[in-house]
Amino acid sequence: RRPGGRAVPGTDFTAVAPNTEDAVVTAEGYEQGVVIRWGDPVVPGAPEFDFNNQTAAAQEQQFGYNNDFAELVPLDGSGKRNLLVVNHEYTTETHMFLGYDEENPTEEQVRIAWAAHGLSVVYTERERNGGLKVRPSHYNRRITLNTPFEMRGPAAGSDHLKTSADPTGTKVLGTQNNCAGSMTPWGTILSGEENFNQYFANADSITDPKAKERLARYGLKGATSNRKWERFDKRWDLAQEPNEANRFGWVIEIDPHDPNSTPIKHTALGRFKHEGAAVKVAEDGRVVAYSGDDERFDYIYKFVSNGKMKRGKSAHARRHNMTLLDDGTLYVAKFTGNSPESEIDGTGKLPSDGAFDGTGEWIPLASGNKSFVPGFTAEEVYIFTRLAADKVGATKMDRPEDIEPNPVNGRIYCALTNNSNRGSTGNAAPDEANPRVGNKHGHVLEIDDDATGTSLRWTLLLVCGDPNDAGTYFGGFDKSRVSPISCPDNVAFDRHGNLWISTDGNALKSNDGLFAVPVDGPERGFVKQFLTVPNGAETCGPVVRDDLVTVSVQHPGELDDASADNPASHWPDGGDSQPRPSVVAVWRKDGGEIGRR
Ligand code: FEO
Ligand code: CA
Ligand code: CA
Ligand code: CA
Repeated sequence: RRPGGRAVPGTDFTAVAPNTEDAVVTAEGYEQGVVIRWGDPVVPGAPEFDFNNQTAAAQEQQFGYNNDFAELVPLDGSGKRNLLVVNHEYTTETHMFLGYDEENPTEEQVRIAWAAHGLSVVYTERERNGGLKVRPSHYNRRITLNTPFEMRGPAAGSDHLKTSADPTGTKVLGTQNNCAGSMTPWGTILSGEENFNQYFANADSITDPKAKERLARYGLKGATSNRKWERFDKRWDLAQEPNEANRFGWVIEIDPHDPNSTPIKHTALGRFKHEGAAVKVAEDGRVVAYSGDDERFDYIYKFVSNGKMKRGKSAHARRHNMTLLDDGTLYVAKFTGNSPESEIDGTGKLPSDGAFDGTGEWIPLASGNKSFVPGFTAEEVYIFTRLAADKVGATKMDRPEDIEPNPVNGRIYCALTNNSNRGSTGNAAPDEANPRVGNKHGHVLEIDDDATGTSLRWTLLLVCGDPNDAGTYFGGFDKSRVSPISCPDNVAFDRHGNLWISTDGNALKSNDGLFAVPVDGPERGFVKQFLTVPNGAETCGPVVRDDLVTVSVQHPGELDDASADNPASHWPDGGDSQPRPSVVAVWRKDGGEIGRR
């Protein structure tokens, strides 16, 4: 039987077959267009991209590298005018520069890399043909590693955040490794600083045992860094600026409506390798922010505000709502299975009750200046959150990536991307919430949460992989009809409440893609691939609107042995061009609704 046929609204399309094309391949009947590429002008007056003559001054004004999270922030109700906000997660210098010498980068190359990080905001209009066009606008903005941020919340000003450049511990230059994110209900953008540790040098020089333990728990290790930034700014050298690394690993918030606004780092949401953060508004108006710490055996967190959201789109309401994430309680999740441990055999075989499921609790870590963790001040909980969470018996997960509330059914969905070490010697054994040894393909967790409370119920919606593999589960749906899916990373929802999942690192020897799956009704678990991205790329930042889908295509051609001198992809420009990370829009040829025919 062919995948496809009649489906619930939003997912009625013919699935794209797994492939290894150097192209974006969409479902039949859909059209695509590149919206913006690495190097394209962003700020008014920015120069055109010139791969062979890059400068930091140009990159400061152009679209950054490795676009991950993307969001379309509507400027009105028409759907035609949106601000496209995009994260630039990290730089891949061997792909950015011809003849790049990893041992001896030039100062200009390093400064280009600083400017290629951060975020871009660009004003877009829908085109007559259905595509999305970037237009010059006063909204257009680059945020880079040189942009001033304000640290806010209970740990702002802490001694652990002070440096020689910032004795107040409240002003940080820039953001980096911004992975996933979300739009808040008040129209701002949240974004997670993820693998920030990789840019810091000389952790080995620190000898104080407490400091060493904290560095190690965050993966800060070694002498020189891979990118050698410490040669050009001492803030990347822990031997000279031991606190600079404490100023990364936060959830940031930016107001794309005000290009002059100072972005915020919210200390109340804790410091870890935030994949992203996403907000649900509770019935009483308080807001709940969910966030995953993307590392093998790390945790899922939530933050519950004390203040209540002001409704409406006014600048006044937005200013109030931008303080909500500074005052509240931070929790970490513990998941308990309801099947006997003996039935979790590590293969992915369902227990006798027919589900990987159970209950759970949110364990409080800190609230304002009060710590709930013995041996930790509140400030230490916020800044060394991983170590605090270790103390309270949180559940070690298989790399929690994006976690977001479903706007239709209210449940929370988290992608657990994979964990090659699950069940290996010295590591945590499989449990009902992470049921496979050496989890290669990941799974998707569904949480029914008492938003402002401390109890939850959970179930695994998907145990990913090749549906022909017995150790997979597709919400109970007929596995002969679903698309293979591996390494879920980002999640999004269409207006019908269908879950859309993008993947990173497909371990089934085909390209990454974007998938749609109903989560309620008879087709719950019917996973279908909507598009695939070029070989070596990761699919991220999906946005699904009624008549438009956008995805970020990150690091096309990033394969072993590939480099600018030996490119493995020529997407999107074709010929013998260098690959460029880009955002792509997809729409129906006949202008109709996505996933409806
Ligand atoms: Fe940057 Fe967790 O992916
Ligand atoms: Ca069970
Ligand atoms: Ca990710
Ligand atoms: Ca990932």
